Amino acid sequence: MNSAIYVFPFTANEVDGDDSFLNEIQKATVMATGFGIVGCGMISNFHAKALEEIRGATLVACYDRFAASADKFAEANGCTAYHDLDEMLADPEVDVVTICTPSGAHMDPAVAAAKAGKHVVVEKPLEITLKRCDAIIDACKKNKVQLATIMPSRFGAANQELKKAIDKGRFGKLTLGDTYVKWWRTQEYYDSGGWRGTWEMDGGGAYMNQAIHNVDLLFWFMGEVADVNGMTGTLAHKRIEVEDTGVATIRFKNGALGVIEATTSVFPGLLKKTEISGTSGTVIIEQDDVLHWEFAKENARDEKIRTELAKKSGNTGGASDPSAISYAGHMEQLKDFIKSIKTGKKPFVDGNDGRKSVEIILAIYQSSWTGKQVSLPLKRDPKIPKAK
Ligand SMILES: NC(=O)c1ccc[n+]([C@@H]2O[C@H](COP(=O)([O-])OP(=O)(O)OC[C@H]3O[C@@H](n4cnc5c(N)ncnc54)[C@H](O)[C@@H]3O)[C@@H](O)[C@H]2O)c1
Repeated sequence: MNSAIYVFPFTANEVDGDDSFLNEIQKATVMATGFGIVGCGMISNFHAKALEEIRGATLVACYDRFAASADKFAEANGCTAYHDLDEMLADPEVDVVTICTPSGAHMDPAVAAAKAGKHVVVEKPLEITLKRCDAIIDACKKNKVQLATIMPSRFGAANQELKKAIDKGRFGKLTLGDTYVKWWRTQEYYDSGGWRGTWEMDGGGAYMNQAIHNVDLLFWFMGEVADVNGMTGTLAHKRIEVEDTGVATIRFKNGALGVIEATTSVFPGLLKKTEISGTSGTVIIEQDDVLHWEFAKENARDEKIRTELAKKSGNTGGASDPSAISYAGHMEQLKDFIKSIKTGKKPFVDGNDGRKSVEIILAIYQSSWTGKQVSLPLKRDPKIPKAK
């Protein structure tokens, strides 16, 4: 893992490392933040690895609808396997429940965890419809527990620097915000899990599953989306209901325009790229590296950013292999979440943020299905076409 490329936004080391800002009682509490994972598949291993490296976090429990999967995960990670979700939720050592089930199976365990008074971390997408996202957000609000949506890319150093430059107004008037996720997934990938590539459980294809990280980045950088036009197709895979190729044009509320391309049909799978431009600057980030960083008014840090963040991180970010990702972003986000529990402040990426990327993607789908431009906010979830 290349943790050097990641920074904890604004609060370096407050949870992991220098905890002098906490009193003794708080320190003891930090040490005791217990996590329980629901869904012991591919991504749960990244959560386990991340938690292992966070001082003040302990993985105490896990649950999977298949008892054998929970047992295997528990044995590998030294935690208690539960074969009943309610029993895990009754465990007083579990403070946070992390949902790592298939995307369309996030809502039920997330709502149950909130009702049990547990803080909730949900893997992306928060859920696959706005109605289901809202059920999670409402349950967490009602039960006064914190909610985060996993979006590790926001914690990359290059993306953090870019966001700061935007907030300082260094781009002048933002004119263009584009993001390209031209990835490759084999047919075996879709065949490997019954839920992959289905509307019911994946909630979509290249946009909802793969490009959602960059959709999240784009609205974080550019602001609210006003209108979208989308076109999607299933061009390179069989036995999937969802799109493996999509293009969309975007108009942001600030007037800027943009493009979001999302595929799992482009061999060999390219590094994802985001390009932000305005009347006085352009930044291009490929995966976690700065490719271009140029402003009309150069400042003292610009050259440092160009040299230090242009180093190849070597992280392919899952361009062709879904498990070839770093857990550094997960680690920083979980640290941020622990801090939000301790301080009561909003997590860096909360439930409302998680809902936003789902809404933009659903708008792209609606436009693609109707052939019409779609304006945000969406009044309701679009009707998913019946599987052929
Ligand atoms: N942040 C990232 O970079 C990233 C990467 C990959 C996957 N994900 C997300 O993580 C989630 C899981 O993906 P994955 O690749 O690990 O899938 P997976 O199929 O490998 O694992 C899912 C696990 O959940 C279990 N499960 C299914 N339904 C359940 C239920 N109702 N209750 C309890 N357990 C249940 C399955 O038995 C399986 O063990 C998805 O939402 C996906 O979008 C995020």
